[in-house]
Amino acid sequence: METGAVNAVRGMNDILPRDSAVWQRVEAELRRIFRAYSYREIRLPLLEKTELFARSIGEATDIVAKEMYTFDDRNGESLTLRPEATASCVRAGIEHGLFHNQCQRFWYMGPMFRHERPQRGRYRQFYQAGAEAFGWTGPDTDAELIAMSSRFWSGTKLQIPPRLEINSLGDSDTRAAYRRRLVEYLQGYERDLDPDSRNRIRTNPLRILDSKDPNTQRILQGAPTLFDGLDADSRAHFDGLCRYLDELGIRYTVNQRLVRGLDYYNRTVFEWVTDELGAQGAVCAGGRYDGLVQQLGGKRAVPAAGFALGMDRLVELASMNEAMRSPTRADVYIIMVGEGARSRGWSHAEKLRGRGFNVEMYCGEGGMKNQMKRADKSGALIGLLLGEDELESDSITLKMMQRRGEQVTVAAGDLVTKVQELIGEHRV
Ligand code: HAM
Repeated sequence: METGAVNAVRGMNDILPRDSAVWQRVEAELRRIFRAYSYREIRLPLLEKTELFARSIGEATDIVAKEMYTFDDRNGESLTLRPEATASCVRAGIEHGLFHNQCQRFWYMGPMFRHERPQRGRYRQFYQAGAEAFGWTGPDTDAELIAMSSRFWSGTKLQIPPRLEINSLGDSDTRAAYRRRLVEYLQGYERDLDPDSRNRIRTNPLRILDSKDPNTQRILQGAPTLFDGLDADSRAHFDGLCRYLDELGIRYTVNQRLVRGLDYYNRTVFEWVTDELGAQGAVCAGGRYDGLVQQLGGKRAVPAAGFALGMDRLVELASMNEAMRSPTRADVYIIMVGEGARSRGWSHAEKLRGRGFNVEMYCGEGGMKNQMKRADKSGALIGLLLGEDELESDSITLKMMQRRGEQVTVAAGDLVTKVQELIGEHRV
């Protein structure tokens, strides 16, 4: 039998207590912002039928072709750990009749799985927070999604917020026509393209626009752009979006090379990008996908748009700010000396916890000095001291740990009020 330690799967990280405070702050902020825009939470399974992703994200995409965690269930059905959640939102909406004559705004948060090569900002289990809006055709919905995502940066106190890039992919006819023009152009340079791009000419030529290879980049400079061949309705939609963004004061650049790595998009696509994280610069990305509901079996077309935010990346950006990283602290640390004090201390602790305070104490036997040291280390605002004297007079001593140890003794009955008062003062 093996006896060595078992490590986590590569690319699947533990989030340790020293880091969870910033995750919790980021999550709380995201929830607050989703609520402010009237999006409602939808919770979806981590496993779906493989077909769902193949039919929505697209067979020729990197995600479906190479990155999915797919396996046969015990009954032989092919299942996949979700690589994203847009397809699941659509599936759930169709399955539960949520799109019948009604518009919907959903948000979700949770782990996604892609078998990519792990590096900074790119993991095999990573976390997304996403929003999806169903039922609205106009650019106002796209603008609403972008406005909402722009609040994430101020909400999580980023010193250098990501910048916004937008583009339009037009309708499916525009894209098909563009695909032909692009392939024609690139075939003239086929031998000079990087190997990945060469393969993509036949499978997924639009993705070549995303190539980081310098030579391919050079060739692309002369390539036709999708934007120039845009159909009139898509052009009007795009102009509408730009007007909304201008009115909202949200700065953007039009990136005609932005195509996204999933097949379901039409018209608007956007990405928030940062230079602070090395190679993995996309922090939040999305767009419109008006055809997906029908493509996944919906009875009629339901226009839709959404985005997903890479939470690992946002957390890394937010962690650059000390205040976001500071650990969560106890309000009160109880120091008890002697057997009688211990049971009295417990009952005080429970009373305070019942009132919503965060109370920490030492379990087991411990001398006064030792407990004081731990109280100090815990970062608690108040130390509650319970010794012989306090027991006798049914009182309790409160020590302001953060204010050079000022202390005051109060009757046990006044404890909650006094703690409330001291913590209130500290928070002001
Ligand atoms: P996506 O561009 O594949 O879009 O992913 C969105 C974001 O998730 C990325 O911008 C990035 O921040 C984060 N992300 C993706 N892969 C990884 C990874 N391996 N490690 C860490 N972070 C990662 C979607 O998933 C679409 N469902 C977005 C959408 C929603 N479009 C419409 N609605």
